[in-house]
Amino acid sequence: MTVSYPATRLRRSRTHAWSRALTRETVLTPADLIWPLFITSGRGVEEPVASLPGVSRWSVDGIAARTKEAVALGIPCVALFPNTPPVKRSTDGAEALNPDNLMCQAIRAIRDACGNDVGVLTDVALDPYTSHGQDGLIDDAGYVLNDETVAVLVDQAMTQAEAGADIIAPSDMMDGRIKAIRMALEMGGHTNVQIMSYAAKYASAFYGPFRDAVGSGGLLKGDKKTYQMDPANAEEAVREVAMDIAEGADSVMVKPGLAYLDIVTRVKARFDVPVFAYQVSGEYAMIEAAVAAGAGDRDALVLETLMAFKRAGASGVLTYHAPLAARLLNG
Ligand code: PBG
Repeated sequence: MTVSYPATRLRRSRTHAWSRALTRETVLTPADLIWPLFITSGRGVEEPVASLPGVSRWSVDGIAARTKEAVALGIPCVALFPNTPPVKRSTDGAEALNPDNLMCQAIRAIRDACGNDVGVLTDVALDPYTSHGQDGLIDDAGYVLNDETVAVLVDQAMTQAEAGADIIAPSDMMDGRIKAIRMALEMGGHTNVQIMSYAAKYASAFYGPFRDAVGSGGLLKGDKKTYQMDPANAEEAVREVAMDIAEGADSVMVKPGLAYLDIVTRVKARFDVPVFAYQVSGEYAMIEAAVAAGAGDRDALVLETLMAFKRAGASGVLTYHAPLAARLLNG
């Protein structure tokens, strides 16, 4: 059958709003969103993050309040990242294993405030705890050691699971960590704790504001290119994802987001697993900068970009715009 004008007029179905609604291929709802939150010390503390206008670090009580807000908005899950006080940072990142660290305090506060009405996703990597800002243990040359780091990440994940985390999200990109963490969770009785693997995480220039938010930016010397992926590679992302699924990941993530939608689509086409995307800090900052420059409407930019993730095949999106987007979607 040939498809030709005027029998075919693709504008017909666009004529009215009802028809556009009827033929819409993708939907975005608050249930598609995961809200990343930054934790800081103290009580009643809110610290705005300069490079992320509109985003703050909150003390544990504030984290619980934000999470209640998430539940009210229909956001099913929050992701936690601590800004560890400088005195508690060390070369080995041992504070990551402290059952009373900011992360564990926040998990417990959320559980007290919201019960099981919300999922708590916790970041597994050492960069918020190390004095050098790398995600793992380093040797004398500064090289991030794989197997030694995995052993610590297992303890970190177990510490978070013991505190009540629902989804362990390793963002470190060490080889073999999903298997090691899954085995430890099984042996430790945490059979229903999920793993969302940052499977295809790129060495990206879009992480700058996040590193300010967790306080690792000023500490980091060099880059993370020996473990995070080369932005030039797509086949390798498929291998990363295959490996993490085989090791026991319940879902996988592609990160950053907008510049890597081809990876989301490629992964979704190859594997029948939930694929999440992280619209990272630099992407948030880019939208806010465009708004500040009068180059676009915030609400429209936010909803359009989040819809693009869904259209590309993502099951959901981690985004700092989650509360705004949920408010808009709830009308
Ligand atoms: C580190 C981590 C990073 C992000 C999440 N976990 C930064 C990095 O790899 O340096 C970035 C998130 C963002 O930019 O919003 N384990």
